[in-house]
Amino acid sequence: MRRDPRVFLIGEDVAEAGHPFKTLVGLVQEFGTQRIIDTPISEPGYAGIGVGAAMTGMRPIVDVMFGDFITLTMDQMVNQAAKAHYMSGGKIKVPIVFRTTLGATRRSAAQHSQSLHAWVSHVPGLKVALPSGPYEAKGLMKTAIRDDSPVVIFEDKMMYRVKGPVPADDYTIPFGVAEVKRAGTDVTIVATSSMVAVALGAAKMLEEIGISAEVIDPRTTWPLDKTTLIESAKKTSRAIVVDEGYERYGTTAEIASVIAEGAFYHLDAPVKRIGAMDVPVPFSPVLEDLTVPIGEVGVRGRENTLPEGVRTMSAPARIDVDLYSDTVSQPTADMRRFMCEAPVGDEQKFEDPTVNQLCEMVAELLGKEAAVFMPSGTMCNEIALRVHARHGEEVIAHRSAHPINSEAGGPAALAGVNVRAIDGPRGQFDVAAVEAAIRPRTRHAPRTRLLWVEQTSNHGGGSIWPLARIEAVTAVARRHGLATHMDGARLMNAVVASGISARDYSAFFDSVWIDFTKGLGAPVGAALAGSREFIDEAWRCKQQMGGAMRQAGIIAAGGVYALRHNVKRLAEDHANARRLAEGLAGLPGVRLDPATIETNIVFFELTGELTAPVAVERLLARGVRMGASGARLIRAVTHLDIDADGIERALAAAREVFKG
Ligand SMILES: Cc1ncc(COP(=O)(O)O)c(C=O)c1O
Repeated sequence: MRRDPRVFLIGEDVAEAGHPFKTLVGLVQEFGTQRIIDTPISEPGYAGIGVGAAMTGMRPIVDVMFGDFITLTMDQMVNQAAKAHYMSGGKIKVPIVFRTTLGATRRSAAQHSQSLHAWVSHVPGLKVALPSGPYEAKGLMKTAIRDDSPVVIFEDKMMYRVKGPVPADDYTIPFGVAEVKRAGTDVTIVATSSMVAVALGAAKMLEEIGISAEVIDPRTTWPLDKTTLIESAKKTSRAIVVDEGYERYGTTAEIASVIAEGAFYHLDAPVKRIGAMDVPVPFSPVLEDLTVPIGEVGVRGRENTLPEGVRTMSAPARIDVDLYSDTVSQPTADMRRFMCEAPVGDEQKFEDPTVNQLCEMVAELLGKEAAVFMPSGTMCNEIALRVHARHGEEVIAHRSAHPINSEAGGPAALAGVNVRAIDGPRGQFDVAAVEAAIRPRTRHAPRTRLLWVEQTSNHGGGSIWPLARIEAVTAVARRHGLATHMDGARLMNAVVASGISARDYSAFFDSVWIDFTKGLGAPVGAALAGSREFIDEAWRCKQQMGGAMRQAGIIAAGGVYALRHNVKRLAEDHANARRLAEGLAGLPGVRLDPATIETNIVFFELTGELTAPVAVERLLARGVRMGASGARLIRAVTHLDIDADGIERALAAAREVFKG
């Protein structure tokens, strides 16, 4: 304004108030009310004044307080300012700047939180600039004022608090020239406005896990520097576009298509887009946070390199410490070799020596007459249900038991049985609960047929059923003529932690199975054991359900190897789980009693504002995967791919996420 007397600024609360975000404080004192002009609430009116003034030789800056209010200036901006030069055969110029805002997370609700820059980027005749920081805000504004075309500048409201170096001299930033904010070789992240800072934060985290990200700020969405974007994607072969506008028909879509078309033969993966959720921005802070671009594996920027208040983004997660489940472990090289070399035959004909060997080992381990190899623990459970119970009969199980929650309705669909869920602390129930659940023998009630115990109890936090309790509840069952079944997915964890043999635990049950894919670390399989008669019937069901195999020894060998090598070491998993629990228990907003950790499963509750899905996402962005088991519950499970050092890395990430 000092340089060019034709420049004036017009809008609501721009003079005395210095703008609601205080960005114009002092201007009216310096330039007076003829050049800093307050208007009533009348966007169409003062936008029209601006367009007219620009046509007649002035250089107005029309300040539209919230980006949402550009809806009121559309005719002036889109139909008049953008078209006049073209429709007058170049005789009329409209050197006007519309200055407005974008961005959510100010708790300003649906009419004050949108990022509508894609709308105007769509219109030929308009130029659109998105400063990503204080330096860009000055340089792009100066270019806009000096440009002979109408320019719309969107500033992120959340960025007004951001401080950064701004040279005092008269510099400009050219339109249509992207800036490589950070060079990298593995992935290109194109980010606009405040998402640039978020992308730089993500790049820093990616660097820690060995991924080199190149971050590019296009600075103007029109003109768009296609060449820089395409060349970067050609170099890295992967691209992510992050922008706070709605994803659908949005800026991310345009930039992604530019890259996809220009770098098609160089890309290793589709261009990933991260934008705002396609919903009106909610007023509820919790819901609003979910709508901004944090993507599936996002990380809140706040805790990292970003200034207070700046929002977040996704980063492709590389998992360093995977505590999601003990099922995620990878077969070791030795196990793989053993599997490759296993002698095999036709399993259906009992001609596979490795499967036969495994079944003998399991029958012996569990003290049963026979065992059958199954593809999964789920199949062991479902087949046991079918063998023990007839259609219309009832099974008693703890409410958290696997077949109730995680077998896709199998008890009803495959065995046709009711499961009567009973309760008790830590995934266990007592004699009284069993007594109360057994149906009276009447024509009306389903017949109670089977009692079900899960050792250890997964959703009970890996709790070990004490032998005396098992003895007591199964005695009640037997007295009432019920069969008994043990889901021993993690029986060997109980064995190692308690020192009680698998045979002793199993003695109280008609059927028992163990899983090789949990703590034992094999890639496939479980084995169900019982009397010979029971196993014959189980085999019939397995055949019927398509579970009978051919040269299955190659996978059964994983089980043989696991039983030989991976049982004793479960003690390490238990020690790691305890250490994890002790470290987590001291953190703000975490409720956990480390004394309850008996085996390899750690559940903890969140007591503050942080929800489990968000916490899990933040952990994931730091390379640590855990599972959200509800709005406030998180599960972490140790296994043979996690060593003591991994636990310390997980705790370091947790300390960053759970800071209170
Ligand atoms: C207690 C329990 N039972 C059964 C299963 C099913 O085992 P699979 O994944 O081998 O089907 C699981 C799996 O996590 C489990 O935790």
